[in-house]
Amino acid sequence: MFYRPRDNDHGLKHNPFKALVAPRPIAWVSTLDSQGRANLAPFSFFNAVAEAPPILMFAAYGKKALEPLEKDTPRNVLETGEFVVNVVPAALKGQMNTSAAAYPAGVDEFEAADLTKADSLIVAPPRVAQSPVAFECKFLTRVELPSTNPAYVNGAIFGEVVGVHIADEVIADGRVDVTQYQPLARLGYMDYAVVDETFSMPRPPAPPS
Ligand SMILES: Cc1cc2nc3c(=O)[nH]c(=O)nc-3n(C[C@H](O)[C@H](O)[C@H](O)COP(=O)(O)O)c2cc1C
Repeated sequence: MFYRPRDNDHGLKHNPFKALVAPRPIAWVSTLDSQGRANLAPFSFFNAVAEAPPILMFAAYGKKALEPLEKDTPRNVLETGEFVVNVVPAALKGQMNTSAAAYPAGVDEFEAADLTKADSLIVAPPRVAQSPVAFECKFLTRVELPSTNPAYVNGAIFGEVVGVHIADEVIADGRVDVTQYQPLARLGYMDYAVVDETFSMPRPPAPPS
C-alpha cells in the first residue's frame, strides 16, 4: 500500500505513522515554570541529534488556544532556558503514563505520579530520583514546524546536554548496561516496548582502496 499523509488516504482504522517509526525513546522532561513550580511530562518525538556537544531534541504539539507557548513543558523551557530529560525505566511505566495526563498549569506531576525529586547539579529543574539516567539541558533553539491542523502548533525544542547522571548500579565493566533498567520505548497506537536484550555487531573493515 501507499498513502499520502497530507491526504490521510491510508484507509486504515488508525493513522499508522507512529507505528512505522518505532521504537521511539521517551524523553521524560522535567521543567520549572517562572514561579518555580515543577512540571514533568513524556515526549516520544524525541532523540539525540548530535554528540559533540551532545544535543537532544523533542517536539511538542499543542492547541493554538494555549498559545503562545502550547503545553506547559515547551512554555517552561522557553521561559527558563532549562530542562532535564529523564530516561523511563520499564519499572516506572505507570508513573510515566500518569504524568502524561493533561493537568492544569502549575500542577506538579512529580506529586501526581508519586515520584521523588532529586537535585540537578547545573540546571534548576529537578530530576526524577528513580530514573537511572538523566540529562541536564540548556535550551538552544525552538524550530516552528508545519501543522496540518490549523488548531494546533508544532515546535521542536533543542537543548545542549550540560550534565549527565548515571546510576552507579547500571554501570558494569565500564559500560552502561541498559538491560539493568530496561528503557521504555513508544510504538504506535497505545503500544510500548522495552529494551531487555541487546547484541553487538562490529562494523565491517573499510573496503580496500
Ligand atoms: C509515551 C507518551 C509520549 C508522548 N509524546 C508526546 C510528544 O512527542 N509530543 C507531544 O506534544 N505530546 C506527547 N505526549 C503527550 C504529552 O505528554 C501530554 O500532552 C502532557 O500532558 C504534556 O504535559 P505538559 O502540558 O505538562 O507539558 C506523549 C504522551 C505519552 C504518554
